[in-house]
Amino acid sequence: MKKYLFVISILLTILSCKKDKVPSPTVVPVNCQLEDTISYANQIQPILSNNCLPCHQYPGSGGINLDTYVNAKSIALSGQLVQSIIHDTNYIIMPPLPQNQLDSCQIKAVKRWVLQGCLDN
Ligand code: HEC
Repeated sequence: MKKYLFVISILLTILSCKKDKVPSPTVVPVNCQLEDTISYANQIQPILSNNCLPCHQYPGSGGINLDTYVNAKSIALSGQLVQSIIHDTNYIIMPPLPQNQLDSCQIKAVKRWVLQGCLDN
C-alpha cells in the first residue's frame, strides 16, 4: 500500500509541474494591405531592425545575424526566419517571450518576401 501512495505522490508532483505557467505567443491580428511584391528595403528591413536587430546584429544571439540583406537572406532560405516568427514548435519562438511578437501583417510580409525568393529590392 505504501508503495502505491509513493507512486501516486510522484505522479501528482509531475502533473503539478506541468501546470507551471508558460507564456504562450500571441499574434495581434491587424488589417493588412501589402504590395504584391514585397520590398526588402521598405518592409522587411524595418521589421527586422525594430524587432530583431537589438539581439541579432553581428555576432548575433545564438549565432543568428540578421543585420544585412545577405545575412537575413541566408537565415530566410534556411527556413529559420519564418519558422521562428510563426512559432513552429520545432523552433525557438522569436522574439523571445514575453516580448511582443510580430503582428499578423508583419508575419504575412515576411512569408511573402521569402516565397518571392527574398528579393533585394
Ligand atoms: C531579446 C533578444 C532577441 C530578440 C529581440 C530576437 N531574438 Fe532571435 N534569438 C535570441 C536568442 C538568445 C537566440 C538563441 C536561443 C537559443 O539558442 O537558445 C535566438 C535565436 C534565434 C533563431 C534561431 C532559432 C532556432 O530555433 O534555432 C532565429 C531564427 C531567430 N532568433 C530569429 C529572430 C527574429 C526573426 C527576431 C525578430 C522577429 C528575433 N530573433 C528577435 C534572442 C533574440
